[in-house]
Amino acid sequence: MAEFSGKRIVLGITGGVAAYKTAELARLLVKADAAVDVVLTEAATQFVGPATFQALTSRPVLTDLWDARAPGGMAHIDLSRGAAAILIAPATADFLAKLAHGQADDLLSTLCLARACPLLVAPAMNRQMWEQSPTRRNVRQLIDDGISLLGPGSGDQACGEVGPGRMLESEELFEELVAFFQPKLLAGKRVLLTAGPTFEALDPVRGLTNSSSGKMGFSLARACHEAGAAVILISGPVALPTPRGVTRINVESAAQMREAVLRELPGQGLFISVAAVADYRPAKAEVGKIKKNGKVMALDLVQNPDILAEVSALPEAPFCIGFAAESQNLAEYAEGKRLAKKLPLVVGNLLQDGLGGDANSVTLFDDQGAHPLPSAPKIDVARAIVAHIASMLIPR
Ligand code: CTP
Repeated sequence: MAEFSGKRIVLGITGGVAAYKTAELARLLVKADAAVDVVLTEAATQFVGPATFQALTSRPVLTDLWDARAPGGMAHIDLSRGAAAILIAPATADFLAKLAHGQADDLLSTLCLARACPLLVAPAMNRQMWEQSPTRRNVRQLIDDGISLLGPGSGDQACGEVGPGRMLESEELFEELVAFFQPKLLAGKRVLLTAGPTFEALDPVRGLTNSSSGKMGFSLARACHEAGAAVILISGPVALPTPRGVTRINVESAAQMREAVLRELPGQGLFISVAAVADYRPAKAEVGKIKKNGKVMALDLVQNPDILAEVSALPEAPFCIGFAAESQNLAEYAEGKRLAKKLPLVVGNLLQDGLGGDANSVTLFDDQGAHPLPSAPKIDVARAIVAHIASMLIPR
């Protein structure tokens, strides 16, 4: 995917062992069509070499304030002009201190002070260094100065200790940088989503479920978070990683999903119901395993509550969005569900277009009519849905 098409990123590397992860990050950025200018501090060159980054980015790598290759000898000014952002990964405790105090005694720190673009830092250090009051003070100052902090994560450290201070993994940094550039269309909003299938137990080992992969719901949770919302994702059983920054609650049955939704609902501005909730559950879940007896077996099923309809009927209902996955007559069924459940917006798709795959082709149904979106990867479809929702939230 070309998330960074037309963007130039300055990737600053300071002297920490996590610098090896930045090589992978540079590769991910280049693969996403970014032009990547790498700047190493002298300490960074003790851990990684310019040749690695030159090979990965196909661009010159700078280490020296006095590098004669920069036109007019002004690398510290020129590099940030026209750049979409500077990302420092890893950012050592020493470098954070420099940034906090506006020190400019090498190419990277000078470049940061002279920048005309956003600055993001991915701290990496021993947990005690991270927790010391000078670092806490510096971090507060950086946040005050509008610098974005990515991480750090927590876990095993190169020094053998365990705790906060690990640099985020390259994929996580990549995802954070992608999110950074998304328009903050839902800033300050609180969003509750459901996703995935539900599982309705028949006995301790068997149950009724469906083939929803959860991918569309998880993509929407990610897109809402990228757009600046606080997101809670209530998920049925799926094997998907939780999008960064999203709070996830796992449930199994429709009844558990309903209970979690009603519990989390107060204070939510939007409810996006993507889950393929089972419409029926076995009238009785057997305590012991059901044994075969050679005869035809009939199952008694009772209807589950409709979570979305219940939420949208509440006196203080949030802005509710439904999904309709149909095998035929998409417009008729989706619009029918929108009116029946009193929803401002329904996202409809034909099962053959989306189920289980990474791409989807959807049509949005609202009071203004039907709006087909181009077929695209689910994350792009999710971002387009978010943009449509945001446009509906602005009073017309
Ligand atoms: N939904 C829900 N609770 C249910 C059933 C559905 O919250 N018990 C929500 C889904 O998350 C989706 C919307 O309602 O946003 C439509 O779901 P769908 O299963 O397509 O429609 P139903 O109303 O159940 O109609 P049918 O299954 O007959 O097509």
